[in-house]
Amino acid sequence: MSQEVRFSLAGVTCRYDGSVAARDVTIDIPSQGVTAFIGPSGCGKSTILRCLNRMNDVVPGFSLTGQVLLDGEDIYTPTTDPVTVRRRVGMVFQRSNPFPSSIFDNVTYGMRLNHPRSGADLAVKAEEALRAAGLWDEVKDRLDTTASMLSGGQQQRLCIARALAVEPEVLLFDEPASALDPVSTERVEELVLQLGRRLTVVIVTHNLQQASRVADRTAFFLLGRLVEYAPTVTLFTNPRDAQTEAYVSGRFG
Ligand SMILES: Nc1ncnc2c1ncn2[C@@H]1O[C@H](COP(=O)(O)OP(=O)(O)OP(=O)(O)O)[C@@H](O)[C@H]1O
Ligand SMILES: [Mg+2]
Repeated sequence: MSQEVRFSLAGVTCRYDGSVAARDVTIDIPSQGVTAFIGPSGCGKSTILRCLNRMNDVVPGFSLTGQVLLDGEDIYTPTTDPVTVRRRVGMVFQRSNPFPSSIFDNVTYGMRLNHPRSGADLAVKAEEALRAAGLWDEVKDRLDTTASMLSGGQQQRLCIARALAVEPEVLLFDEPASALDPVSTERVEELVLQLGRRLTVVIVTHNLQQASRVADRTAFFLLGRLVEYAPTVTLFTNPRDAQTEAYVSGRFG
């Protein structure tokens, strides 16, 4: 497996209205495989995740110091276009958020926005994305029905298809399965694993078993700091920090 670095964060500190949410985070995220962020509520996992595609920019009062490199390039320069960054670095949220339109329109939304294509091409790309999200067989005969008719798990896979359709290099997942039933959760986990073979995947999860099932490496955050970052097996079975050990053995959080 290639260990080429996709993201390199150096001394990243994030603030909301001046109060620190993540402090002095330095971490390299390889381009291949799945990286998980774990830690108790409020420790800064989502904040750091959203730094990776400048999603925090839309939060009033947010500020960032330090450096975030994507493929070696600073994505926080005054001339960087956040929209371009977000096209390369897609995101899937905890609550599936399909648009109030048809399944087809949901999947093709980003494609229509980014590069207006011919109708036939859109259909081909939509099928590809829905197949990649493991949803095609369930929706192929009703692409024109409204997305809200789908089950929660299907809606989440539709959001994954929508994110994949613009062919991102990175996909960020913020607790993508925490509102789903066990069967839907398993399907999302399978997808995360599959996608990690061809994209950079970063996933925030509260579910330690989930991290150990899907992630090649895991970062443990506590009170806004990165405490430990290691291959997942090492972090769970042989952590070097006593706080990591306490957390992964279920003693707090
Ligand atoms: N939009 C915001 N405005 C102000 N403060 C925020 C905002 N988002 C997060 N914070 C604060 O930043 C800190 C880190 O929050 P963050 O959402 O990154 O934590 P988290 O680890 O993802 O937590 P959870 O597991 O509950 O999702 C918290 O103290 C939180 O209250
Ligand atoms: Mg969060």
